Amino acid sequence: MSTSAIVQERRSEAQPRPDSSVAAASPVAGSGSYRHWRLDKDAEGIVWLTFDKAGTSTNTFSKDVMEELVAIINRLGAEKPKGLVIRSGKESGFIAGADVEEFTQIEHVEDALAIVRRGWDAFNALAALPFPTLALVRGFCMGGGVELALACRYRIAVDDPATRFALPEVMLGILPGWGGVHRLPRIVGPSAALDMMLTGRSVDARRAKKIGLVDDCVPPRVMENAARITILESPRPHAPPLLQRLQNGPLKSVVAALARKQVERRAPREHYPAPYAILELWQKYDGDPFAPPPHDPASIAYLIQHPTAKNLIRVFGLQERMKSLGKASDFQAKRVHVIGAGTMGGDIAAVCVLRGLTVTLQDTASERIAPAVKRAADLFGRRLRDKLRVRDAMDRLIPDVNGDGVAHADVIIEAIFENLPVKQELFAKTEARAKPDAILATNTSSLKLADIGAKLKDPSRLVGLHFFNPVPQLQLVEVVSGSATNPEWPKKGAAFVRQIDKLPLPVKDSPGFLVNRVLGPYMVNAFRLLDEGVKAETIDKAAEQFGMPMGPITLADTVGLDIVAAAGKTLAGAAAVPPKRLEELLKAGKLGKKTGEGFYRWEKGKPMKGPADAVTDDLIQRIIEPYLAEAKEAVEEGIVADADLADAGLIFGTGFAPFTGGPLNYAKEKAQPLSVSR
Ligand code: NAI
Repeated sequence: MSTSAIVQERRSEAQPRPDSSVAAASPVAGSGSYRHWRLDKDAEGIVWLTFDKAGTSTNTFSKDVMEELVAIINRLGAEKPKGLVIRSGKESGFIAGADVEEFTQIEHVEDALAIVRRGWDAFNALAALPFPTLALVRGFCMGGGVELALACRYRIAVDDPATRFALPEVMLGILPGWGGVHRLPRIVGPSAALDMMLTGRSVDARRAKKIGLVDDCVPPRVMENAARITILESPRPHAPPLLQRLQNGPLKSVVAALARKQVERRAPREHYPAPYAILELWQKYDGDPFAPPPHDPASIAYLIQHPTAKNLIRVFGLQERMKSLGKASDFQAKRVHVIGAGTMGGDIAAVCVLRGLTVTLQDTASERIAPAVKRAADLFGRRLRDKLRVRDAMDRLIPDVNGDGVAHADVIIEAIFENLPVKQELFAKTEARAKPDAILATNTSSLKLADIGAKLKDPSRLVGLHFFNPVPQLQLVEVVSGSATNPEWPKKGAAFVRQIDKLPLPVKDSPGFLVNRVLGPYMVNAFRLLDEGVKAETIDKAAEQFGMPMGPITLADTVGLDIVAAAGKTLAGAAAVPPKRLEELLKAGKLGKKTGEGFYRWEKGKPMKGPADAVTDDLIQRIIEPYLAEAKEAVEEGIVADADLADAGLIFGTGFAPFTGGPLNYAKEKAQPLSVSR
């Protein structure tokens, strides 16, 4: 079977299939009165409740959806059918959770409490139904979706790469208040439950089975039958082993103290109160969000009034906005050709393959492609965790020294080293062989699009797709338009970026685009502080204390001092005086992590740090100020469309402290401090 046929088959598997039992089912009388839910009863008396939210492709729990669900639960409670199966009518997945839009409209604490009350009561009513209930989950199952599933007596996951369970509330600065904190630790044990709730990490269908989150994990073709049989046989619900029961009882405080220590290492309480609230709600109040008094830091009232929740919900909204910039209707690729199998090209190719695309990977010799293929195999192994899927993925990654893939590709991405004449020649040749509707993209960090495209017959075709290193981890891709670029191409570029599940940020062609431009002065400033005698450790600690994921000195060592210096020259001009210590290290060939020494000595991939001096607020401000100033200037120059998109790009591209809502939001709020009560 050809690789494209395999892809085709996978795609068709993702469509809902008619099921024999439900084909025989008939609508429950009066079921037409619901806008978002459909009720069918099969010959065995099982009610199939299909969630198919009206007017949207994704199921979310908004107020009207919940009201209908409560009415249905009450009705079924009175009718007492043989059993109830809840499933999704959407191709996109099961349930994405609460309608976050409603959270953005919260004006008073009471509004937030009303939302929590609605879900808490509804799922308690579902859990109390006196007959077997089952959630049949295929595709994503997030937040309230998981909480609905937890309130059912049984859960079955469909073994599909798209099936994932997560409680991501912590990422919004809130907590799973619809029963998640109450039920998940009882079902999977506190360790696995806290891991999910405190990090927001998702688990796939097989892992969900392993930890006991679902009772079964079945292939798509038998899913409806598996649900039916479970309801009819009604086995004893999954009971956690003794150790988990102890951890949920007498050992609770030990488990909570360990988890708290881990959280403290990652997220200071003053910036991120939600993980601490989750722990306390579980430990002291058994997950009942209405048990703590309103001033208690474990309460919804406290969390929702904390500026972090507002800012994290803002970041979620910005992420959604970036997603909406790439529309599948504008462009869809099947084949990608990547030129240059180095650090970037190799990983870009691997990420495209992971998203189901077929990729030809070109370099000057096959020995240069081999390391990229090896790296890709490791990545597939880690991400796909299934031999067959890894094999299929490897089949889709095709080494191509002759560049034959150019003629068949829908997207061609150049990621060869930063050399203008070579890139110009390469694009001229590539254009001659490429399909007329293929995207021609460069991953350049520092060259101008207009220069790279100078030898093209149609320079308006060239776009920049600027990925960040490491590509598999970093979500942002800057979609660059040059002065000559026809706006249709960046639109298609953004659609492609979404297709590979990254976040597109449209930027204008200008040195450093947005992200590197803002990082440049921030890093140079840090190097100058170092030259003034401030310890590297102290600078890094100050930045981390502010909320950066990594200090600027460690960041420079990680990226490589040669790359940092080259980017600095492009941004500041060759005439700028280079920082002294940086120059010394470059001369000595000490380029950071990759050579084992830079500003720090590196052992086993870790910087060997000495003690830091005391960090003052003044120092923090001195470190952050150039970042804020440059971000503001980039917006004023129109490098990005507006301040919100700049905030989004800088959070997802550089990890700028998310609890601030982004650098420009932070600067604005610093000028006008947030009022805590809303
Ligand atoms: P690299 O040096 O790791 O890889 C470049 C690869 O291109 C090498 O394998 C080389 O053999 C190959 N190559 C050179 N000329 C070629 C040709 N004519 N045809 C086919 N292959 C050829 O470089 P890296 O770091 O992956 O950078 C590539 C591009 O990505 C550059 O434009 C760089 O500015 C950009 N970039 C780099 C980032 C990084 O952190 N390394 C981040 C974002 C963009």
